[in-house]
Amino acid sequence: MDSSGVSLSFKCDAGTSAVAPRSAQKSTSRAKPAFLEFFAGSGLVAQGLSQFFKPAWANDICEKKAAVYTANHGKKHFHSGSIADVNGADLPQAVLSWASFPCQDLSLAGLTAGIHAERSGLVWQWLRIMDEMPKRPPFLVAENVTGLISADGGIHYRALHEALRKKGYIVGAVMLDASLWVPQSRQRVFVIAVEKGAKIPANLIDTGPNWAHSDTLVKAAEGLKGWVWWKMPEPSKRKITLSDVIEWDAACDPPKASAKKLGMIPSSHWERLSQEAVTVAPGYKRTRKGNQVLELRFDDIAGCLRTAQGGSSRQVIVLKRGKRIDTRLLTVREAARLMGAPESYKLPGSYNDGYTAMGDAVAVPVARYLAKHLLSHLAQTAGQPNLS
Ligand SMILES: C[S@@+](CC[C@H](N)C(=O)[O-])C[C@H]1O[C@@H](n2cnc3c(N)ncnc32)[C@H](O)[C@@H]1O
Repeated sequence: MDSSGVSLSFKCDAGTSAVAPRSAQKSTSRAKPAFLEFFAGSGLVAQGLSQFFKPAWANDICEKKAAVYTANHGKKHFHSGSIADVNGADLPQAVLSWASFPCQDLSLAGLTAGIHAERSGLVWQWLRIMDEMPKRPPFLVAENVTGLISADGGIHYRALHEALRKKGYIVGAVMLDASLWVPQSRQRVFVIAVEKGAKIPANLIDTGPNWAHSDTLVKAAEGLKGWVWWKMPEPSKRKITLSDVIEWDAACDPPKASAKKLGMIPSSHWERLSQEAVTVAPGYKRTRKGNQVLELRFDDIAGCLRTAQGGSSRQVIVLKRGKRIDTRLLTVREAARLMGAPESYKLPGSYNDGYTAMGDAVAVPVARYLAKHLLSHLAQTAGQPNLS
């Protein structure tokens, strides 16, 4: 990476690099199956699925995120407004329906009001809309934070699982951490439901838990009817580190602000910072025993990007160049790189708009991996009409 802030060699959007993988080449030469996207936000799911699926319809209530979505994926199929006002009878037919429903009531940092609360409870609106469609999509994906399976002993996941099962789907969830592909710790749960009777290739189903099923997930699945252990190949080792995504010439905090943040770093973390190999260490401010501290991590990956709406502070990065130590917030482009968005991804609006758009999103390579190794294979067997 050069230091001009424009990376010439940056390849976070792996899979859209110069030569597309064989399976991708195959899938682009055919008409892509249609998908519907609820809570589409800034369009990173659409970006991740783009080699395999074509968005037929997308919706989000946030105008600022809609601006990001439409700048990158066009306006034609995007419908701005609340999901509460959507009628399934008006939607185009599709093979897949994806919902990254709001996480605030399931986030462990939040109040875990649960899956029936006002914001996370919008998932039921999604299911209502599916029921209203003349022909329901045979495949559904619901994405959320790990609280969906871990909060309150898994009752929130079980409620969703049972609802899907009663509607005639078999259901399994996988837990994928974006850090397998990009230098950001970001664990998310993906619930994948397939209409009973759909032909599922045998190689997509495992006999028990595998790398994509955490212990918490295994516990949540215990005794559930209609559960399926989805199987995908284990991804190869990530190549990109946090240092690779840093815009080294971006403006840092003025000396006074920097000194204040550096003063919050615990002494044990200063010791680790002094190690020669460390060039960048990210951290969040936390309150410990009534004091604000800036705890850093030293594994060359960023902590999970979050939005200010979640009541969280912004992630600080400490940059070390020789004896010089600076602090600053992540740039919007760095946040986009941490989400695996391509360098060409347009991020209109202010710093806050761009940061929020990325902080709420699904990491592109995670969506792409699911599409490539699971969803596209399911779609091939669906026998549903394609969009050309
Ligand atoms: C977890 S984010 C999904 C982000 C998206 N998948 C992405 O990659 O950017 C949840 C989204 O739900 C949207 N949302 C919240 N309430 C909504 C409502 N009533 N109707 C439609 N969308 C809503 C938010 O604006 C937000 O973009």
